[in-house]
Amino acid sequence: MSLKKTDKIWHNGKMIEWDDARIHVISHVVSYGSAVFEGIRCYATVQGSAIFRLREHMQRLHNSAHIYRMDFPFSIEETSQGALDLVRANKMDAAYIRPIVLRGYGEAGVNPYDCPIEVYMACWNWGRYLGDDAIKNGVDVCVSSWNRSAPNTLPQMSKAAANYMNSQLIRMEAMANGYVEGIALDVNGYVSEGSGENVFLVHEGKVLTPPLASCVLPGITRDTMMALCRDMDIPVAEQMIPREMLYVADEVFFAGTAVEVTPVRSIDKIQVGNGARGPITKKLQDEFYALTGGKKPDRHGWLTPVPAPATVGAR
Ligand SMILES: Cc1ncc(COP(=O)(O)O)c(C=O)c1O
Repeated sequence: MSLKKTDKIWHNGKMIEWDDARIHVISHVVSYGSAVFEGIRCYATVQGSAIFRLREHMQRLHNSAHIYRMDFPFSIEETSQGALDLVRANKMDAAYIRPIVLRGYGEAGVNPYDCPIEVYMACWNWGRYLGDDAIKNGVDVCVSSWNRSAPNTLPQMSKAAANYMNSQLIRMEAMANGYVEGIALDVNGYVSEGSGENVFLVHEGKVLTPPLASCVLPGITRDTMMALCRDMDIPVAEQMIPREMLYVADEVFFAGTAVEVTPVRSIDKIQVGNGARGPITKKLQDEFYALTGGKKPDRHGWLTPVPAPATVGAR
């Protein structure tokens, strides 16, 4: 197991020990997948630790809960402060932060309303999600035989645990066939996204990514990529993407908190471009890592510094 536990977990506003963060097996979430969550990175920037796009992640967490009629017991500010406290309490410089809002132990039926809402936040060290050389050399992927969920079934604007059963099918199938990751199509056959990341391609000098209507998670790294394109005068658009455009694209890359910005070098064993990281992918990567590393001014206000230890305590 590569997950290395840390000391503290934030639970409903208090710090508890990692090993004490337990739920009952009959909790609603276990049978029915009733949880929403986030994945957030804290970077060790040259100015100190800072959480990337913290408010946007917490806003999405609240949106995810709202879609599922969960009464979120903490504000965006309180959960944001909790994430900052958590990183500091675990004495971490860089971390992956995982807030989870779940329906706990109460009733056994599908009706969730008598099950309490529990909020947990854990953090740990998480390196390169798709392998160490992926960022530089790219990954070999396939188009999945599994589709993303149809509109008006499992809402993709909610980052809900249940969505990740579909993600697991995509990822397991890809790995069983010797690929690192799968790209799923939407129910209409247009490109949607990877099991845990958004997809971009470069075609005829333009950066393209599927619209939210293609059943993609509204990724915060996706939004970051589009903002960086606009900053650097690279034409960018959200548009429906036919599957075959993946094969003729000059560049394809993934964007997500876990994968950050990862080039794709082949799809279904068809080489993408010249089979190496493309120039626009590299430009976006360089800008992304410069900003998240604090090596360039934080012109968008995307980094929230983690406060000094003396100001931190269990809330
Ligand atoms: C299915 C899926 N799509 C896209 C993303 C990328 O979203 P973000 O950039 O906000 O991490 C993720 C990761 O959270 C994901 O799980």
